[in-house]
Amino acid sequence: MNLILTNIKELVQTETTPRRWVAGADMAQLPTIKNAFLIIRNGLIAEFGTMEEYRQLDSRFYNGIDEMDVSGRMVFPCFADSHTHLVYAGSREQEFVDRIKGKTYEEIAAAGGGILNSAKRLQETSEEELYQSAMIRLHEVINLGTGAIEIKSGYGLTVKDELKILRVVKRLKALNLIEIKATFLGAHAIPKEYQDRKEYIDLIVNEMIPQVAAEGLADYCDVFCDKGFFTPEETDRILKAGLAYGLRPKIHANQLSASGGIQVGVANNAISVDHLEHVGEAEIAALKTSETMPTLLPGAAFFLGLPYQPARKMIEAGLPLALASDYNPGSCPSGSIPLILSLACIKLKMLPEEAINAVTINSAYAMGLEKTHGSIAKGKVGNVFITQEIPSYAYMPYAFGSDTIDKVIIKGKIFRE
Ligand code: NIG
Ligand code: FE
Repeated sequence: MNLILTNIKELVQTETTPRRWVAGADMAQLPTIKNAFLIIRNGLIAEFGTMEEYRQLDSRFYNGIDEMDVSGRMVFPCFADSHTHLVYAGSREQEFVDRIKGKTYEEIAAAGGGILNSAKRLQETSEEELYQSAMIRLHEVINLGTGAIEIKSGYGLTVKDELKILRVVKRLKALNLIEIKATFLGAHAIPKEYQDRKEYIDLIVNEMIPQVAAEGLADYCDVFCDKGFFTPEETDRILKAGLAYGLRPKIHANQLSASGGIQVGVANNAISVDHLEHVGEAEIAALKTSETMPTLLPGAAFFLGLPYQPARKMIEAGLPLALASDYNPGSCPSGSIPLILSLACIKLKMLPEEAINAVTINSAYAMGLEKTHGSIAKGKVGNVFITQEIPSYAYMPYAFGSDTIDKVIIKGKIFRE
């Protein structure tokens, strides 16, 4: 609950004036304090500054609080992972092998693999089993530095099974480990048994959304708006149905094609539009006028061998960008934000500062948490991680695949020793 870190080599992403997000050229700015201290009291960030300021601090600020000397180490705010499908059953390494042999993601999906494969497995799995496996994954990602996470349904595809996933998310929230946001994604794929796709969309609109809302199971409503999945018109209908129940849109768009998903998301004031492998001038123009956070998921592009998102073009156009993991069994079986940082720098040509902004303050905004997470600011939740002894923050994305984190602190308590 209470902790003082002293002699921090560099305290990263400090903030004295609240920001909603950072955009364009500002993304290359990463505020830090060298030779710093940080005090977490009652789970919240109470004070921070230079060691010189610490020495002048009135003792009432730190009396009775344990002090940890972290000389040679950096401290970051924990990552906000604003897009995951952490509750799932089974794995899909057979499809992974099929893709190595030349099949495409869409061909596998059309043949009943992909999302429908995961849905079948999830339907056969009990709520308790799902909860146990999701809890293991949640612990795994906290140990990798994640301090807030969004989790979607979407592998249920029946009323009962979509509710089952979201009830698991509710139980994960009740653990009070880290902040969790829940997203309803009934519109992830059309189940095979529906000859008429409108019938499934009617089920989403008339039954799933009202029941999800009645149980208070979701914060956001998602649709996979892409070629072979849901059209912009269908997406618009589903998003409006969610909005009528207070569920703000947060959607999958433009992963496989220029689907119109970005525009329909922006038109419905989505908090974020995610994936974005296919982005042109029209999409950028729509995003420029909006409060919608463009969120890139390079882990999925990497794993599926899809084109990478045009991050440079978007930053140069003045847009903000968030990055998230997309942790799921089909397109990104990893929830590692450190790996995402490396992919963003190596493949999207984002600067380390831009990538770090994208997985902290901007991704916190993409899940409605910019007031409490995503930076080192007084009053924000005391979720931080301490690095190993590393020479600079750029070392983190540079040393891809290496574990550069030493300790994770959640609400002022040591979570990862
Ligand atoms: O975010 N793109 C759609 N949905 C997931 C992947 C789903 C799957 O293949 O299981 C994604 O990449
Ligand atoms: Fe996803």
